[in-house]
Amino acid sequence: MTEEQKLNAKRATYEKTTHISIPSYDSLFSMIQSYFRFELGDIPVSMLVVGAGGGNEFSAWGPSNPNWTFTGVDPSEDMLKIAKLKIDELDLESRVSLIPGTIDDLPQQDSKFDVASCILVLHFIHDVQEKLKLLRSIKDNLKPGAPFVLVSAYGDLDDPELHDRINVWKSFWVAGYESPEAFDNVSSNITKISFLPEKQIEELLKESGFTRITRFYSTGIMAGWMCHAE
Ligand SMILES: C[S@@+](CC[C@H](N)C(=O)[O-])C[C@H]1O[C@@H](n2cnc3c(N)ncnc32)[C@H](O)[C@@H]1O
Repeated sequence: MTEEQKLNAKRATYEKTTHISIPSYDSLFSMIQSYFRFELGDIPVSMLVVGAGGGNEFSAWGPSNPNWTFTGVDPSEDMLKIAKLKIDELDLESRVSLIPGTIDDLPQQDSKFDVASCILVLHFIHDVQEKLKLLRSIKDNLKPGAPFVLVSAYGDLDDPELHDRINVWKSFWVAGYESPEAFDNVSSNITKISFLPEKQIEELLKESGFTRITRFYSTGIMAGWMCHAE
């Protein structure tokens, strides 16, 4: 397989697994777009995308919002390559900057962002203080009042409620995946991601300097919160 074929295969797997894992994944992006448009109006907007690998934020929001410019950070070289493919295909190069690394690698800039998203990233960070540090850093990079959307796995692993939701989530996989081995692999890894109860996620958002925190979305093991930088 050539490098290009390998990358296309990774891209296809990523697209398939996110759509199986979160059946309302495309609707999630439409909902966030509506919210940002409603909050920001039709003005030029600078957006910080934390966890920009895969490029779905750019393909979902780039073509339909010609006034928006994006700065995306992600530590995964492979995921950034997939993002770059989409950016090139959609002619978004002039409106997207990709930064390999974490939010700590953002270059110093004079003006803060109008809006930010952090979708499906927080549950990959295991240390609660590190989660808090990331959220604080997002808040510090936003203008006062700027909207922010966080989407993450949530729940308490000691609570049967989460295990019921994990079973619902598994049912999406069983229905959507043709390979039992692939399913077993994903299934055994799911409890290794870092779940936090909803209350604790909302407290972290508050502690990081976000207000008007509203959960607007939930599918299986994931939920999404809208809020504003103080
Ligand atoms: C499941 S993907 C989600 C990507 C994209 N937001 C989406 O919804 O398609 C998770 C991404 O988070 C990235 N990631 C992990 N830790 C991160 C961190 N500390 N800062 C930024 N991105 C991170 C991973 O490299 C990966 O590309």
